[in-house]
Amino acid sequence: MISMIWAMDENWLIGKDNVLPWHYPKDLAYFKNMTKDKAVLMGDMTYLSLKGYYKTKPLPFRKNYVANINDASYPDAIHIKDLFSFLKTTEEDIFVIGGKTIYQLSLPFADRLYITYVLKTHEGNVYFPSFDLSQFKLIEKRLEDQLIFAVYERISE
Ligand SMILES: NC(=O)c1ccc[n+]([C@@H]2O[C@H](COP(=O)([O-])OP(=O)(O)OC[C@H]3O[C@@H](n4cnc5c(N)ncnc54)[C@H](OP(=O)(O)O)[C@@H]3O)[C@@H](O)[C@H]2O)c1
Repeated sequence: MISMIWAMDENWLIGKDNVLPWHYPKDLAYFKNMTKDKAVLMGDMTYLSLKGYYKTKPLPFRKNYVANINDASYPDAIHIKDLFSFLKTTEEDIFVIGGKTIYQLSLPFADRLYITYVLKTHEGNVYFPSFDLSQFKLIEKRLEDQLIFAVYERISE
């Protein structure tokens, strides 16, 4: 199963330069809880961003897949060059954790979406790509402070 997880504000903002535009401890806790010990897939920009947060500590995932087109590889990650083949053929449960480019490329393969709606607007420069949410049905929704934690499942044809 391919799951995607992200947080976005009312304008679908997700990033500021190469970091998150906000600090919501409850969303960080939710992200950590959902992805802990899972296999995750990310682009190299997100990998480098996370490394900035974790510095000397290992990333908290069971397996890290990092997609990039050039041949840069990282000691704690499996390099994915052919993203489409990987997403089409993998039998693992994968969480796609960003960023914008990798979300956009992974959306057609996603079975589940974990979206945190930040009920505010923030400043930044990276937005989630527009897509058709009507292909998914809402299966869970929880409001906490200024955040809505929503889970969607793809509607099977
Ligand atoms: N709000 C959230 O939940 C959230 C979560 C994660 C990230 N973010 C934000 O998202 C932003 C980063 O997004 P981004 O789009 O710049 O970076 P990204 O998606 O993390 O990584 C982009 C990289 O993917 C590689 N790539 C592109 N097409 C590919 C393909 N077809 N196959 C394999 N690899 C491919 C390219 O690597 P090369 O060019 O090096 O080959 C490209 O640099 C940051 O601001 C971050 O804070 C937000």
